[in-house]
Amino acid sequence: MQEKIKELYESASSSIAQVSDLKQLDEIRVAYLGKSGSVTGLLKGMRDVAPEDRPKVGQLVNDLRVSIGNALTEKEEQLKAIEMKSALISESVDITMPAKSSEMGSLHPINLVRNELIEAFAGMGFEIYEGPEIELDEYNFRLLNIPKDHPARDMQDTLYITENILLRTQTSSGQARVMQAKNPPLKILSPGKVYRADDDATHSPMFHQMEGLVVDKNITLCDLKGTLEAFLKKMFKGDLKTRLRPSYFPFTEPSVEVDVTCFECKGKGCHLCKGTGWIEVLGAGIVNRRVLENCNIDPDEYQGFAFGIGLERIAMLKYGIPDIRLFFENDVRFLKQFK
Ligand code: DAH
Repeated sequence: MQEKIKELYESASSSIAQVSDLKQLDEIRVAYLGKSGSVTGLLKGMRDVAPEDRPKVGQLVNDLRVSIGNALTEKEEQLKAIEMKSALISESVDITMPAKSSEMGSLHPINLVRNELIEAFAGMGFEIYEGPEIELDEYNFRLLNIPKDHPARDMQDTLYITENILLRTQTSSGQARVMQAKNPPLKILSPGKVYRADDDATHSPMFHQMEGLVVDKNITLCDLKGTLEAFLKKMFKGDLKTRLRPSYFPFTEPSVEVDVTCFECKGKGCHLCKGTGWIEVLGAGIVNRRVLENCNIDPDEYQGFAFGIGLERIAMLKYGIPDIRLFFENDVRFLKQFK
């Protein structure tokens, strides 16, 4: 028996000495001290030992168990220390390495144009009003003198939610809301998203407009022209001319389209202005007296002018963007160009 104990001690010691990782070490622990391990086997064999020898042999087996246990613990500590050391080396961070540069994002071109427009008008005393995108027929159409059979109401163009609730097709809806809620004089700028069932290179089902409205005493078309001229000069820079062309909108009378000297050819005629020397930038007019009446403003006391600008159109002209869909694809190669 003593011989066997000695052999076991030696074989355990040499196995432990050779082990190089914790998993193997655990296997050795199980092989010697586990439930069916060799040392445990020795204890089971005690019944074959003569009764008078049992205390002595028992003591020896127990010593063996303690010795192997100690050797295992010692080795375990060594292996853990080695593991820790190599982890410290492999996971170390070189704090002297140059940092990855983080790139600054940039504003979306529509927001750039929106901010520029607001800035140009803010100096003239306009206030910002943001109306709801889900709008009542009342504000989007009826109060603005748009009768039931107007083409803009066509199911093809307007996205209806119910018979009387729709996605606003124009920021002009904000005009009626402001006029109903506040008393003149008014000077309002209303930017926001608008929606139409339309989708091609120059039309998007969602796009942006900026509405302008001024209501005061003695407002004439000259006020409209002066205001828009000052704004367009700021927006497109340089010595530009503007012209008003007669047009039609139900909520203005008279109505005009506003053109500006083509900034590509300076009026000579080119592909951008289709040879005319002029670029159409917005619709405008003198607020129709019926609209004032609808909003409880006395048209004999007050007059107004209004204008509506398509932000995508301005951005496309300003930056030479050929397709409106580029704005909404979120291709970073496109967006990065507006830093
Ligand atoms: N709401 C018009 C549109 O979406 C744009 C517009 C034209 C607005 C003339 C106005 C205006 O305020 O006076 O096409």
